[in-house]
Amino acid sequence: MSLSSTTTAGLTDGAGQGGSVGGDLALLDRLIGEQEQVMLARTARSQALRAEARGVLAGGVASSWQDAPPCAVWISEGRGSKVWDADGNEYSDFHGGFGVGVAGHAHPAIVAAVSERVTKGTHFAQPVEDTIVVARELARRFGLPLWRYNNSGTEATMDAFHLMRVATGRPKVIKVEGSYHGHHDSAQVSVYPERAEVGSTSAPNSVPANPSIPGPFAELTVIVPFGDLGAVEHALAIHSGQIAGMIVEPVMMNIGLIPPPSGYLAALKELLHSHGAYLAFDEVKTGFGLAPGGATELFGVTPDLVCVAKAMAGGLPCGAIGGVPELMNLIADRTYEQVGTFNGNPLTMAAARATLTEVYTDEAYRHLDALRARQVAGCRRVMAQYELPGYVQAFGAKGAVIFTDHLSNYRDFLDYADQWGNAHWLYQQNGGVALPPWGKCEQWTMSVQHTSDDVDRFVTNLETMAQALRGSGA
Ligand SMILES: Cc1ncc(COP(=O)(O)O)c(C=O)c1O
Repeated sequence: MSLSSTTTAGLTDGAGQGGSVGGDLALLDRLIGEQEQVMLARTARSQALRAEARGVLAGGVASSWQDAPPCAVWISEGRGSKVWDADGNEYSDFHGGFGVGVAGHAHPAIVAAVSERVTKGTHFAQPVEDTIVVARELARRFGLPLWRYNNSGTEATMDAFHLMRVATGRPKVIKVEGSYHGHHDSAQVSVYPERAEVGSTSAPNSVPANPSIPGPFAELTVIVPFGDLGAVEHALAIHSGQIAGMIVEPVMMNIGLIPPPSGYLAALKELLHSHGAYLAFDEVKTGFGLAPGGATELFGVTPDLVCVAKAMAGGLPCGAIGGVPELMNLIADRTYEQVGTFNGNPLTMAAARATLTEVYTDEAYRHLDALRARQVAGCRRVMAQYELPGYVQAFGAKGAVIFTDHLSNYRDFLDYADQWGNAHWLYQQNGGVALPPWGKCEQWTMSVQHTSDDVDRFVTNLETMAQALRGSGA
């Protein structure tokens, strides 16, 4: 895996130029309206299923983020790099199930492992041998010796908050403004706060993400801007002796894709340690897609705790937390009861074993590198030719077209018009490329089964959108 980022910052001269391209939000609104009609015409069966589901599923979907205007797309099948929706439309899948899909769909090695396991029983709540194989592989990749399983990214980061508190006896944890670490109470603070709520830049307010989070809970999560060491230092001083640690996505992904400033991660570790506090990396998204050992390997900084989930088990629900003995021994000696009925479930462990030992090979990472280079080059060409604002940011299997000139933290994100991501999502979707909805928040995920044809389809759709913005027609 190449360690280089493929940033094209600098392709920003087109902002506000090229006729309507730079900042004509009214034109974008019109194109969004047109593309929504195209999407509705392609998805009659999805809409019928959604209507039926409303009678039995709250809101008509299984998870609120599966729904985006103009309609939730119901999927029937996935194979290789492709998915098919309930209406039979084919998509090159860059959605990846919100970043899970680095192995692609129905990978033969994972199908074989899961098929074999399913005939031998799928749940005992007693340990099985694969739990050792998978933990060894995680330890090798992330350079942390001791691991425990859970079932989601939410559980993994919840364990991180808990462990840092237990180890220090301190109540507060630092979190980055605009980061998402799952839906447990401590993490549901300043996820997407409104502009009126955010407070000062250097010491942002702790804003509950929704009314289920009581104010006093939210106050235990101390908020800092991404990439700002001074703000962390300030927080450690203001909350002296109360900070257990900090959780951070080493490459921030809830608001597009933002790499850490040079030296930031190493300096964070040093700073936190100098105050007797710990550093946890949330690698739920960055985990296996950026490099074999995630951002931990890519940036050469090993934190005290690493949380992984999503791409770990080839599409089955799984999470894990790894850490230094000082923290993980608090689990071993049962000071902290890290438990869960489905932890280390045999079926997910079989899938994780196959994914980590047979699918995420060195060759697979070389393939992802080549695909990323092609996709970034294609997007750069379109952005330059049509003078689109913004740049492309990509690492490993992940990347994003960012239609604004400057995005380094949540305050920048607040200034980034939603229309760009929404329009891009619709053009990709209608052109046969699935991307996660909420375009400006999310990233593409490529799988080891993607090909250059999938990449070219993505680039063609971006060009179709660029042409429509130029007025030359889609
Ligand atoms: C960085 C990060 N952490 C944690 C989570 C929560 O993971 P899960 O949805 O598996 O609970 C997510 C989910 O998108 C995430 O992106």
